[in-house]
Amino acid sequence: MEFNFADSAKKMRSSAIRDLMSLAVRPDIISFAGGMPGNDLFPIDDLREIVAQLPTKRLEIAMQYGETSGMNTLIIALKNWLQQKGFPVDKNRIILTTGSLQALHILGKIFINPGDTILVENPSFVGALSAFKSFEANIVGVNIDKNGICIDDLREKLKLNPKFLYIMPNFHNPAGIIYSQQRRTELLQLMQEYNVPIFEDDAYGELFYDEETKSMLSPLKTIAKNEEQILYTGSFSKIFGPGLRLGWMLVPPEVYEKAEKCKQAIDACSSTLSQTLAEEFLTSGRMEKYIANLRNIYRQRRDCMVEELKKHMPAEVSFVEPKGGFYIWIKLPKGVNEKELLKIAIEKGVVFVIGSTFDPLGNENGYIRISFSNNTIEEIQKGIKILGESIKYLL
Ligand SMILES: Cc1ncc(COP(=O)(O)O)c(C=O)c1O
Repeated sequence: MEFNFADSAKKMRSSAIRDLMSLAVRPDIISFAGGMPGNDLFPIDDLREIVAQLPTKRLEIAMQYGETSGMNTLIIALKNWLQQKGFPVDKNRIILTTGSLQALHILGKIFINPGDTILVENPSFVGALSAFKSFEANIVGVNIDKNGICIDDLREKLKLNPKFLYIMPNFHNPAGIIYSQQRRTELLQLMQEYNVPIFEDDAYGELFYDEETKSMLSPLKTIAKNEEQILYTGSFSKIFGPGLRLGWMLVPPEVYEKAEKCKQAIDACSSTLSQTLAEEFLTSGRMEKYIANLRNIYRQRRDCMVEELKKHMPAEVSFVEPKGGFYIWIKLPKGVNEKELLKIAIEKGVVFVIGSTFDPLGNENGYIRISFSNNTIEEIQKGIKILGESIKYLL
């Protein structure tokens, strides 16, 4: 039988990251590829305790369907948590989603008509690019530098009359940068002139590795005069576990109404079991303690990776030291091709993600992304040495 798929499905490609995952499970290979929390870091004892302490009634509710927008008790807890961080929770509404990727997918679906232009940073998060592509958006990349999105380039591209701008101001995936205060201000000033929503993806905002950085992370949603222009997404994946598949959007009521209808047709509601666990994790104070511990461990892994890179990379390699998040975005020396490098590195025992994966048009850009979140210190030391040797081999 030959199936006659929809045009949008015919255009779908498996992302290179997902394909690489199959290599990442080979036991002898060191993977810097996935954007995953450390397996060894999940709060398993907390999880066991929470389940053991839940009364039968709550477990029954946790096994039942729930409200499409999420369990009311979790929404209240999340609202309080966000309010303490300065979010305008009273003017907006929350929808709990099946991962924040679903939040982006839903927002994409309710804004994009086939052929509509949308703006994303170049490079950008591959999951969001795939979601927006599935609605046949014309995706246009806007350059970024170490301080954030390039305002002049954005000004030019806004002339294309885009439907929205999708950005990650805190611990960008893959570039590892945070937007400077000045860039945040310039961006908000420019965007206020245009009637274009900003999707602000803050999946990594809690994972800062020093106190000085913490004060630089104010989400746009908390500082914008025109806050209703910003559709904010967050996630429990990096601060509890991606296995829960739980994220959220904080959006103005008009957007909420469309998004909720859209979600209803997709999965009726996100896992009530996950929501129950997240509520307990958050309201018991376990989450704050857990995040503080995560910051310490990820900081050590980041420090180790940066030190090893300085030791083993040839002088022509450059990168911005990340102040949080999971990723280091490495600019390769001229003449070193990312795909060739990947082939050599896999032979030697290391895998990472090539830069073209994050380019809106899939173009090669001379970069690779490595992550330090799911590796031991020993693996980082061994793997970065191999990576250095692989690059030198191609020079
Ligand atoms: C920038 C960014 N946004 C969103 C997500 C989606 O995360 P989740 O769907 O697990 O919440 C990820 C996952 O890696 C990410 O890196």
